[in-house]
Amino acid sequence: MPATILDGTKIANDIRGEVAAEVAAMAAAGVRPGLAVVLVGHNPASEIYVRGKVKACEEVGVYSEKHTPSEAATTSELLRLVEDLNRRDEIDGILVQLPLPAHVDSKTVLMAVDPAKDVDGFHPVNVGFLSTQRPGLVPCTPAGVMEILKRSNIAIAGQEAVVIGRSDIVGKPVAMLLTNANATVTVCHSKTHDLPGVCRRADILVAAIGRAGMITREFVKPGATVIDVGMNKVSDLPEFQRLFAGNAKREETFRARGSTLVGDVHPEVAEVAGAITPVPGGVGPLTIAMLMFNTVKAAKMRRGSNVPEFAGK
Ligand code: GUN
Repeated sequence: MPATILDGTKIANDIRGEVAAEVAAMAAAGVRPGLAVVLVGHNPASEIYVRGKVKACEEVGVYSEKHTPSEAATTSELLRLVEDLNRRDEIDGILVQLPLPAHVDSKTVLMAVDPAKDVDGFHPVNVGFLSTQRPGLVPCTPAGVMEILKRSNIAIAGQEAVVIGRSDIVGKPVAMLLTNANATVTVCHSKTHDLPGVCRRADILVAAIGRAGMITREFVKPGATVIDVGMNKVSDLPEFQRLFAGNAKREETFRARGSTLVGDVHPEVAEVAGAITPVPGGVGPLTIAMLMFNTVKAAKMRRGSNVPEFAGK
Protein backbone atom coordinates (compact mmCIF):
# COMPACT_ATOMS: atom_id res chain seq x y z
CA MET A 1 0.00 0.00 0.00
CA PRO A 2 1.47 3.41 -0.88
CA ALA A 3 2.28 5.77 1.97
CA THR A 4 -0.20 8.29 3.37
CA ILE A 5 0.85 11.73 2.13
CA LEU A 6 1.15 14.18 5.04
CA ASP A 7 -0.27 17.44 3.66
CA GLY A 8 1.94 20.21 5.06
CA THR A 9 0.10 22.92 3.16
CA LYS A 10 -3.19 22.00 4.87
CA ILE A 11 -1.59 21.79 8.35
CA ALA A 12 0.19 25.13 7.79
CA ASN A 13 -3.07 26.76 6.73
CA ASP A 14 -4.81 25.44 9.85
CA ILE A 15 -2.05 26.94 12.03
CA ARG A 16 -2.14 30.24 10.15
CA GLY A 17 -5.89 30.39 10.73
CA GLU A 18 -5.40 29.76 14.46
CA VAL A 19 -2.70 32.44 14.63
CA ALA A 20 -4.89 34.93 12.71
CA ALA A 21 -7.71 34.37 15.25
CA GLU A 22 -5.22 35.00 18.06
CA VAL A 23 -4.00 38.20 16.37
CA ALA A 24 -7.61 39.40 16.00
CA ALA A 25 -8.22 38.77 19.72
CA MET A 26 -5.06 40.72 20.58
CA ALA A 27 -6.14 43.58 18.30
CA ALA A 28 -9.34 43.87 20.34
CA ALA A 29 -7.09 44.43 23.36
CA GLY A 30 -5.08 47.06 21.44
CA VAL A 31 -1.99 44.92 20.79
CA ARG A 32 -0.50 44.23 17.37
CA PRO A 33 2.43 41.79 17.18
CA GLY A 34 5.28 43.06 14.98
CA LEU A 35 8.04 41.27 13.09
CA ALA A 36 11.24 42.79 11.67
CA VAL A 37 12.99 40.81 8.96
CA VAL A 38 16.60 41.59 8.09
CA LEU A 39 17.70 40.56 4.61
CA VAL A 40 21.32 41.36 3.78
CA GLY A 41 22.33 41.53 0.11
CA HIS A 42 20.58 39.77 -2.76
CA ASN A 43 20.68 36.00 -2.24
CA PRO A 44 17.86 34.90 -4.61
CA ALA A 45 16.61 32.05 -2.41
CA SER A 46 16.62 34.33 0.68
CA GLU A 47 14.69 36.99 -1.25
CA ILE A 48 11.98 34.42 -2.05
CA TYR A 49 11.80 33.19 1.56
CA VAL A 50 11.61 36.74 2.94
CA ARG A 51 8.86 37.67 0.50
CA GLY A 52 6.86 34.67 1.76
CA LYS A 53 7.43 35.70 5.38
CA VAL A 54 6.30 39.30 4.85
CA LYS A 55 3.23 38.12 2.89
CA ALA A 56 2.29 35.71 5.69
CA CYS A 57 2.43 38.61 8.18
CA GLU A 58 -0.06 40.54 6.06
CA GLU A 59 -2.37 37.53 5.88
CA VAL A 60 -2.47 36.86 9.63
CA GLY A 61 -2.51 40.55 10.61
CA VAL A 62 1.00 40.85 12.05
CA TYR A 63 2.81 44.17 11.52
CA SER A 64 6.02 43.64 9.55
CA GLU A 65 8.95 45.64 8.30
CA LYS A 66 11.81 44.59 6.08
CA HIS A 67 15.35 45.88 6.48
CA THR A 68 17.67 45.38 3.52
CA PRO A 69 21.28 46.34 4.27
CA SER A 70 23.62 45.99 1.29
CA GLU A 71 25.85 42.97 0.65
CA ALA A 72 28.74 45.14 1.90
CA ALA A 73 27.21 45.68 5.38
CA THR A 74 29.71 45.06 8.17
CA THR A 75 29.22 43.06 11.35
CA SER A 76 29.13 46.25 13.41
CA GLU A 77 26.54 47.88 11.14
CA LEU A 78 24.32 44.82 11.52
CA LEU A 79 24.86 44.84 15.28
CA ARG A 80 23.67 48.45 15.39
CA LEU A 81 20.55 47.55 13.40
CA VAL A 82 19.76 44.58 15.66
CA GLU A 83 20.28 46.70 18.79
CA ASP A 84 17.90 49.33 17.44
CA LEU A 85 15.26 46.63 16.80
CA ASN A 86 15.87 45.19 20.28
CA ARG A 87 15.05 48.60 21.77
CA ARG A 88 11.83 49.23 19.83
CA ASP A 89 8.77 48.16 21.80
CA GLU A 90 6.50 47.65 18.77
CA ILE A 91 8.87 44.99 17.41
CA ASP A 92 8.20 41.59 19.02
CA GLY A 93 10.18 39.39 16.65
CA ILE A 94 13.52 39.84 14.88
CA LEU A 95 14.54 37.49 12.11
CA VAL A 96 17.95 37.75 10.47
CA GLN A 97 17.70 35.76 7.26
CA LEU A 98 20.60 33.34 6.75
CA PRO A 99 23.06 32.91 5.17
CA LEU A 100 24.77 36.24 5.87
CA PRO A 101 27.64 37.32 3.58
CA ALA A 102 30.89 35.45 4.32
CA HIS A 103 32.65 38.52 5.79
CA VAL A 104 29.95 38.92 8.48
CA ASP A 105 30.35 37.18 11.83
CA SER A 106 26.94 35.43 11.83
CA LYS A 107 27.22 33.95 15.32
CA THR A 108 27.88 37.39 16.83
CA VAL A 109 24.94 38.92 14.97
CA LEU A 110 22.54 36.13 16.03
CA MET A 111 23.79 36.38 19.60
CA ALA A 112 22.94 40.10 19.63
CA VAL A 113 19.21 39.45 19.08
CA ASP A 114 17.23 39.85 22.32
CA PRO A 115 16.30 36.22 23.24
CA ALA A 116 12.74 37.44 23.96
CA LYS A 117 12.46 38.57 20.30
CA ASP A 118 14.40 35.65 18.79
CA VAL A 119 11.57 34.17 16.69
CA ASP A 120 14.06 31.86 14.90
CA GLY A 121 14.99 30.28 18.24
CA PHE A 122 18.69 30.37 17.31
CA HIS A 123 20.00 32.34 20.32
CA PRO A 124 21.95 30.16 22.80
CA VAL A 125 19.51 31.21 25.54
CA ASN A 126 16.60 29.70 23.59
CA VAL A 127 18.69 26.64 22.67
CA GLY A 128 19.27 26.19 26.42
CA PHE A 129 15.57 26.66 27.23
CA LEU A 130 14.69 23.96 24.68
CA SER A 131 17.28 21.58 26.01
CA THR A 132 16.08 22.06 29.61
CA GLN A 133 12.37 22.02 28.71
CA ARG A 134 11.68 25.60 29.74
CA PRO A 135 9.23 27.84 27.85
CA GLY A 136 10.99 29.73 25.06
CA LEU A 137 11.09 30.27 21.31
CA VAL A 138 11.61 27.07 19.33
CA PRO A 139 13.19 27.03 15.82
CA CYS A 140 10.43 27.18 13.20
CA THR A 141 11.20 24.22 10.93
CA PRO A 142 11.74 21.77 13.82
CA ALA A 143 8.58 23.05 15.53
CA GLY A 144 6.77 22.49 12.21
CA VAL A 145 7.99 18.90 12.03
CA MET A 146 6.46 18.27 15.47
CA GLU A 147 3.15 19.86 14.42
CA ILE A 148 2.97 17.58 11.37
CA LEU A 149 3.53 14.50 13.56
CA LYS A 150 1.08 15.58 16.28
CA ARG A 151 -1.69 16.76 13.97
CA SER A 152 -1.39 13.57 11.90
CA ASN A 153 -1.82 11.44 15.07
CA ILE A 154 1.57 9.80 14.68
CA ALA A 155 2.75 8.28 17.97
CA ILE A 156 6.04 9.72 19.24
CA ALA A 157 6.49 8.54 22.85
CA GLY A 158 8.42 5.30 23.02
CA GLN A 159 9.08 5.25 19.27
CA GLU A 160 12.49 4.94 17.64
CA ALA A 161 13.30 8.22 15.86
CA VAL A 162 16.33 8.70 13.64
CA VAL A 163 17.39 12.20 12.56
CA ILE A 164 19.83 12.45 9.66
CA GLY A 165 21.71 15.74 9.88
CA ARG A 166 23.01 17.59 12.94
CA SER A 167 22.68 21.24 11.93
CA ASP A 168 21.95 23.90 14.54
CA ILE A 169 18.90 25.00 12.51
CA VAL A 170 17.17 21.65 11.98
CA GLY A 171 18.89 18.39 13.02
CA LYS A 172 19.84 19.24 16.60
CA PRO A 173 16.60 21.02 17.58
CA VAL A 174 14.43 18.31 15.96
CA ALA A 175 16.36 15.69 17.93
CA MET A 176 15.80 17.69 21.11
CA LEU A 177 12.05 18.12 20.49
CA LEU A 178 11.65 14.39 19.77
CA THR A 179 13.62 13.56 22.93
CA ASN A 180 11.40 15.92 24.95
CA ALA A 181 8.38 14.12 23.46
CA ASN A 182 9.80 10.82 24.78
CA ALA A 183 11.01 9.26 21.54
CA THR A 184 14.24 7.24 21.56
CA VAL A 185 16.39 9.39 19.33
CA THR A 186 19.50 8.67 17.24
CA VAL A 187 21.25 11.51 15.40
CA CYS A 188 23.20 10.50 12.27
CA HIS A 189 25.65 12.44 10.12
CA SER A 190 28.33 12.06 7.46
CA LYS A 191 30.57 9.93 9.73
CA THR A 192 27.85 7.50 10.82
CA HIS A 193 28.71 3.85 10.10
CA ASP A 194 26.09 1.81 8.23
CA LEU A 195 23.70 4.74 7.76
CA PRO A 196 21.04 2.64 5.96
CA GLY A 197 21.08 0.07 8.77
CA VAL A 198 20.70 2.72 11.49
CA CYS A 199 17.90 4.45 9.54
CA ARG A 200 16.04 1.15 9.13
CA ARG A 201 15.56 1.07 12.91
CA ALA A 202 13.41 4.20 12.70
CA ASP A 203 9.67 4.35 13.27
CA ILE A 204 10.10 8.08 12.54
CA LEU A 205 12.84 9.05 10.10
CA VAL A 206 13.68 12.76 9.70
CA ALA A 207 15.93 13.62 6.74
CA ALA A 208 17.68 17.00 6.99
CA ILE A 209 20.84 16.50 4.97
CA GLY A 210 20.57 18.71 1.90
CA ARG A 211 21.27 15.99 -0.72
CA ALA A 212 18.62 15.36 -3.37
CA GLY A 213 16.98 11.95 -3.09
CA MET A 214 19.76 10.43 -0.98
CA ILE A 215 17.35 8.43 1.19
CA THR A 216 16.33 5.46 -0.94
CA ARG A 217 14.11 2.50 0.00
CA GLU A 218 16.96 0.59 1.66
CA PHE A 219 17.03 3.26 4.43
CA VAL A 220 13.39 2.81 5.39
CA LYS A 221 11.61 0.24 7.55
CA PRO A 222 8.28 -0.70 5.93
CA GLY A 223 5.49 1.35 7.50
CA ALA A 224 7.79 4.03 8.96
CA THR A 225 6.88 7.73 8.99
CA VAL A 226 9.32 9.70 6.85
CA ILE A 227 9.69 13.47 7.28
CA ASP A 228 11.64 15.11 4.46
CA VAL A 229 13.14 18.49 5.41
CA GLY A 230 15.30 18.70 2.25
CA MET A 231 14.79 21.42 -0.39
CA ASN A 232 17.20 20.76 -3.24
CA LYS A 233 17.08 22.23 -6.71
CA VAL A 234 17.87 19.59 -9.33
CA SER A 235 18.84 20.87 -12.77
CA ASP A 236 21.05 18.00 -13.95
CA LEU A 237 19.20 15.68 -16.37
CA PRO A 238 20.73 12.32 -15.30
CA GLU A 239 20.06 13.22 -11.64
CA PHE A 240 16.50 14.19 -12.57
CA GLN A 241 16.04 10.83 -14.30
CA ARG A 242 17.43 8.90 -11.30
CA LEU A 243 14.65 10.50 -9.23
CA PHE A 244 11.67 10.98 -11.52
CA ALA A 245 11.96 8.69 -14.57
CA GLY A 246 8.41 8.00 -15.79
CA ASN A 247 6.78 10.84 -13.78
CA ALA A 248 5.06 12.78 -16.58
CA LYS A 249 4.06 15.75 -14.39
CA ARG A 250 7.57 16.29 -13.05
CA GLU A 251 9.03 15.86 -16.53
CA GLU A 252 6.79 18.64 -17.76
CA THR A 253 7.91 21.08 -15.01
CA PHE A 254 11.54 20.09 -15.47
CA ARG A 255 11.34 20.72 -19.22
CA ALA A 256 9.55 24.06 -18.74
CA ARG A 257 11.76 25.42 -15.94
CA GLY A 258 15.03 23.55 -16.38
CA SER A 259 14.92 22.44 -12.74
CA THR A 260 12.68 20.94 -10.08
CA LEU A 261 12.55 21.00 -6.28
CA VAL A 262 13.45 17.70 -4.63
CA GLY A 263 13.71 16.62 -1.00
CA ASP A 264 16.38 14.45 0.59
CA VAL A 265 14.10 11.43 0.18
CA HIS A 266 13.88 9.49 -3.09
CA PRO A 267 10.29 9.28 -4.43
CA GLU A 268 10.51 5.45 -4.39
CA VAL A 269 10.33 5.64 -0.57
CA ALA A 270 6.59 6.33 -0.88
CA GLU A 271 6.25 2.63 -1.83
CA VAL A 272 7.60 1.41 1.54
CA ALA A 273 6.87 4.17 4.08
CA GLY A 274 3.62 4.26 6.07
CA ALA A 275 3.40 8.05 5.85
CA ILE A 276 5.58 10.62 4.13
CA THR A 277 5.82 14.39 3.65
CA PRO A 278 6.00 15.51 0.00
CA VAL A 279 8.41 18.11 -1.41
CA PRO A 280 7.13 20.67 -2.16
CA GLY A 281 4.08 20.88 0.14
CA GLY A 282 5.39 19.06 3.20
CA VAL A 283 7.60 20.64 5.86
CA GLY A 284 8.27 23.84 3.85
CA PRO A 285 4.92 25.58 4.47
CA LEU A 286 5.19 24.85 8.22
CA THR A 287 8.32 26.98 8.58
CA ILE A 288 6.45 30.20 7.83
CA ALA A 289 3.36 29.15 9.79
CA MET A 290 5.51 28.51 12.88
CA LEU A 291 7.26 31.87 12.38
CA MET A 292 3.85 33.52 12.64
CA PHE A 293 3.11 31.41 15.72
CA ASN A 294 6.45 32.39 17.29
CA THR A 295 5.88 36.09 16.60
CA VAL A 296 2.55 35.99 18.42
CA LYS A 297 4.11 33.88 21.18
CA ALA A 298 6.92 36.44 21.60
CA ALA A 299 4.38 39.28 21.68
CA LYS A 300 2.44 37.52 24.44
CA MET A 301 5.48 36.45 26.44
CA ARG A 302 6.94 39.96 26.31
CA ARG A 303 3.66 41.22 27.79
CA GLY A 304 3.77 38.64 30.53
CA SER A 305 0.95 36.37 29.39
CA ASN A 306 1.35 32.62 29.26
CA VAL A 307 1.00 30.97 25.90
CA PRO A 308 0.23 27.30 25.88
CA GLU A 309 2.02 25.24 23.24
CA PHE A 310 -0.31 23.79 20.63
CA ALA A 311 -1.92 20.81 22.24
CA GLY A 312 -1.78 18.84 19.02
CA LYS A 313 -4.52 16.45 18.21
N1 GUN B 1 17.77 30.34 6.07
C1 GUN B 1 17.32 29.07 5.82
N2 GUN B 1 16.45 28.69 6.77
C2 GUN B 1 16.34 29.71 7.64
C3 GUN B 1 15.57 29.91 8.82
O1 GUN B 1 14.82 29.06 9.30
N3 GUN B 1 15.72 31.13 9.42
C4 GUN B 1 16.56 32.07 8.93
N4 GUN B 1 16.65 33.20 9.60
N5 GUN B 1 17.28 31.93 7.85
C5 GUN B 1 17.16 30.75 7.20
